[in-house]
Amino acid sequence: LILDERRGPLSGKRVVITAGPTREPLDPVRYISNHSSGKMGYALAGAARAAGATVTLVSGPVTLAPPLGVDVRPVMTAQDMLTESMAAVDEGCDVFIATAAVADYRPETCAGDKIKKSTEAMSLALVRNPDTLATVAGRADAPFTVGFAAETTDVARYATDKMARKKLDMIVANDVSAPGLGFNSDNNAVTVFWPGGQEQIGPDSKQTIATRLVALIGEHLEATS
Ligand code: CTP
Ligand code: CA
Repeated sequence: LILDERRGPLSGKRVVITAGPTREPLDPVRYISNHSSGKMGYALAGAARAAGATVTLVSGPVTLAPPLGVDVRPVMTAQDMLTESMAAVDEGCDVFIATAAVADYRPETCAGDKIKKSTEAMSLALVRNPDTLATVAGRADAPFTVGFAAETTDVARYATDKMARKKLDMIVANDVSAPGLGFNSDNNAVTVFWPGGQEQIGPDSKQTIATRLVALIGEHLEATS
């Protein structure tokens, strides 16, 4: 089988995807982070590439091999993720997909030397991180924006609220309380919402879900352009 990239659902489109966790340093040896294998984002990058897109993957630290033919931009912190994503969008972007598990807060300060233990209890001052997806969706030249929402309760309500609040074109919700799916797993089950509709995908492999998501994005992109 020869894949003809000129005929794929995202043929000629430029796609920027965020993936993986971010790490927010506390001192030279410690950080705050989120669970995230990066598998869903990397699968989407591969599927978008196979669908004919030019793909940039802004990736936090993961242990996955970069998909063939994808431009990977490694980042560490949420602030790095915003900077690299905005730069990638500046280069031209039709579709922006945020799969990254971004740390919502970072330590207010990062100690220059390793923090030594002393008291029985300690507390940590945290400050809010910038929201990459909301910032990209708020641009005057915003691309078609797709968010992910990992929730443990009220999945549909929280996801559709996020879509409205961040002004997204589509949101992919997954219930991370479901056993054997989501975090670190090769499988997932998601519900995709857009203004006026929804579609259930899976349970299936992240690869199969990525391929269907890319096709769905392609359909909606055609309808809005
Ligand atoms: N996101 C982002 N930058 C952030 C936080 C989130 O780009 N600083 C993106 C995620 O990649 C995801 C979407 O926003 O695509 C939703 O992330 P989520 O953590 O579910 O939403 P929050 O707005 O952070 O809300 P909360 O964590 O309070 O549920
Ligand atoms: Ca969050």
